[in-house]
Amino acid sequence: MKEMVLNKFTEIYGDADGAGVYFAPGRVNMIGEHTDYNGGHVFPCALTIGTYAAVKKRTDRKLRFYSMNFESLGIVESSLDDLTPSDKAGWTNYPKGVMWAFAGRGMKMDCGLDIVLNGNIPNGSGLSSSASLEVLTGYYLKDLYGFEVTNVDLAKIGQYSENNFNGMNCGIMDQFASAMGKKDHAIFLDTADLSYQYAPLVLDGAKIVVTNSNVKHSLVNSEYNVRRSECEKALEELQTVVKINGLGDLTEEEFEAHKSAIKDEVRVKRAKHAVYENQRTIRAVEALKKNDLKLFGELMNASHVSLRDDYQVSCEEIDVLVEEAWKVDGVIGSRITGGGFGGCTVSIVKDDAVEQFKEKVGAAYKERVGKTADFYVVEIGDGPRKM
Ligand code: GLA
Repeated sequence: MKEMVLNKFTEIYGDADGAGVYFAPGRVNMIGEHTDYNGGHVFPCALTIGTYAAVKKRTDRKLRFYSMNFESLGIVESSLDDLTPSDKAGWTNYPKGVMWAFAGRGMKMDCGLDIVLNGNIPNGSGLSSSASLEVLTGYYLKDLYGFEVTNVDLAKIGQYSENNFNGMNCGIMDQFASAMGKKDHAIFLDTADLSYQYAPLVLDGAKIVVTNSNVKHSLVNSEYNVRRSECEKALEELQTVVKINGLGDLTEEEFEAHKSAIKDEVRVKRAKHAVYENQRTIRAVEALKKNDLKLFGELMNASHVSLRDDYQVSCEEIDVLVEEAWKVDGVIGSRITGGGFGGCTVSIVKDDAVEQFKEKVGAAYKERVGKTADFYVVEIGDGPRKM
């Protein structure tokens, strides 16, 4: 990959001498969905797939972007004096947003860049290609301009730019997972205060299989922002009867005792998911520590049901993938992963059942939905780095 982006750099810009190559990973979330903007826990891990960039400083203030994933767009040109979001900037709004967020914190680039990007995260799969691009950008800015930021700062800056430059009110999970990834470990992160622990996720006799539905419904961003405001409203209502900072502060029992403060049935369901999913995540990590993979899998399944019925962020295609996965012998757990409305499922599958899993789920998906699913047996990798 390193050579590939460098060769492209030479082809596009003429001279790759002095260009650095950087990488930041995508992520998959094992459990803890739609809890990260509710002060709850998440349990994601960084993948070995992600986004690569060859980057070289210029002597003027120009920015030139080229993506090997969108070659038909050619070179997209901009300037350090034009760090504002625009439709025509397309994907370059992500790196530009990060540059803008750095500048807002007093870390101003004193010259422009030539950049070639290449990512191997399937497009629209919900494995956080945008977060990996944000963390990647922060990482090369830090390296090239000597900005003093930690990897946690890179996660925060990535999220800030996505919220305020790209209009997606995401939580911090994706950027945190990309920036803080550790090989063979998942990250148990408390989004209330960003305290975290690494938990080994080398599954004895089983694999993590990500299944791509190859659908991405257009409601992703709009519905995401709606869910977020429903939770905020439910929190305000609950705060009239109980002292909490986020839905993640409540146990299931406390929620049941106070839920009548929420004056709308839909909001009760949304808040219920946030509370129960957070507790499930805490329990799942405990189960994993005790090597109780069976319980971990059951909690993954319960997470799916809650996301489908109470949070309502699943869709027909994803439900088919999960239902069919549950039917296969050797499947320990399976659920939707990421923001929802398409994208991927994550399943834990016993080693000797993986081939059967792909065949059975793939065939049933084709028959029931008429589409082809893709399967990736994923590996958990490290965070961002210079190659
Ligand atoms: C998206 C967001 C994350 C998180 C998940 C749902 O991936 O970017 O912050 O909220 O959805 O868990």
